[in-house]
Amino acid sequence: MTAKRYIAKVPSNIALIKYWGKREKQWPANDSLSMTLTSSQTVTIASRLKSSSFEVFVGKHQLFPTDPFAKKIFSHLKFLATNLDFADGLRIETSNTFPASCGIASSASGMGALTLAAIAAWEDQCESPLSLQKLAHLARMGSGSACRSLLGGFVAWNAGDHPSLQSIEQVAKAEHWPLADLIVVTSAKAKSTSSSAGHETANTSPLFAIRTAGIHERMRIAREAIAARDLSTLGPLMETDALDMHAVMMTSKPALNYFTEATVAVLQWIRDQRKAGTLEAYFTVDAGPNPHILCRLEDAQKISALIHEAFPHFEILNDQVGTGPTIDSEVTA
Ligand code: DP6
Repeated sequence: MTAKRYIAKVPSNIALIKYWGKREKQWPANDSLSMTLTSSQTVTIASRLKSSSFEVFVGKHQLFPTDPFAKKIFSHLKFLATNLDFADGLRIETSNTFPASCGIASSASGMGALTLAAIAAWEDQCESPLSLQKLAHLARMGSGSACRSLLGGFVAWNAGDHPSLQSIEQVAKAEHWPLADLIVVTSAKAKSTSSSAGHETANTSPLFAIRTAGIHERMRIAREAIAARDLSTLGPLMETDALDMHAVMMTSKPALNYFTEATVAVLQWIRDQRKAGTLEAYFTVDAGPNPHILCRLEDAQKISALIHEAFPHFEILNDQVGTGPTIDSEVTA
């Protein structure tokens, strides 16, 4: 007996203008813009089962629906099957090339890869007949930021005036602007509050309305800076947006704080080095303690070495802008 397996490799993305808060279920409070990565990715393999159940494995370890980590995976598979009217069960094997749930957008690559692999297995083809926007909608129902991982390069998620008018859009291809993302892993421990829980309380912050009102203008400047490959405009804008989002988190009720002493030390160090003229690099931080340092690809090796010298205890993941997901199939005996 032979079986066909579909292998989706979906990279993580780092938001330069962050998605924070929802108007309603998976309809974001604001537009966002991200850079799709290369090495930080989720690899998910899906194959059809004779039964109607789902079997999920991380490496050799089988997960069950009662496992808190696996809950989202099983419910997303059920959602996809119902939405697309597929009855067959699936065997899912998934793994990340980076530490999960600590601010390296594992839910983006994870839900993106699960969506693409499951659909390919059900449809029994790599190229889905579904439109990109439909796939983005399906991925977004698993995790909002996952929709941005379906395209390479620099990607906008436009919120639109109605949930059904949301869209993803490639603002520029990866080749347009080779930027590096040096991820400083200050802690690989999973965070205690998920971003999904944080989105729910975002609008309790007095800063939330101010932040969302300013995003339109920020998106405009970010788009122009990307078109012009203007790092000295994009960098400070991105830093402000990240700090702005964390200020909303810290002033929400209950307050949410992802920064640790190590996070602050890295951010301060980057600013000090920039001021001293040692390097041109800028930071952003997602829902976790690990700073992402963006710089031109040609400067990445030097800057990575400088970070390592200053913070020898922290692993650095040297990533860069990438071209987006791939899906392949293989027949096994
Ligand atoms: C801080 O996409 O993880 O990374 O839609 O509830 O799954 P859910 O949230 P998620 O939120 C990501 C928040 C962020 C910023 C961003 O990626 O834009």
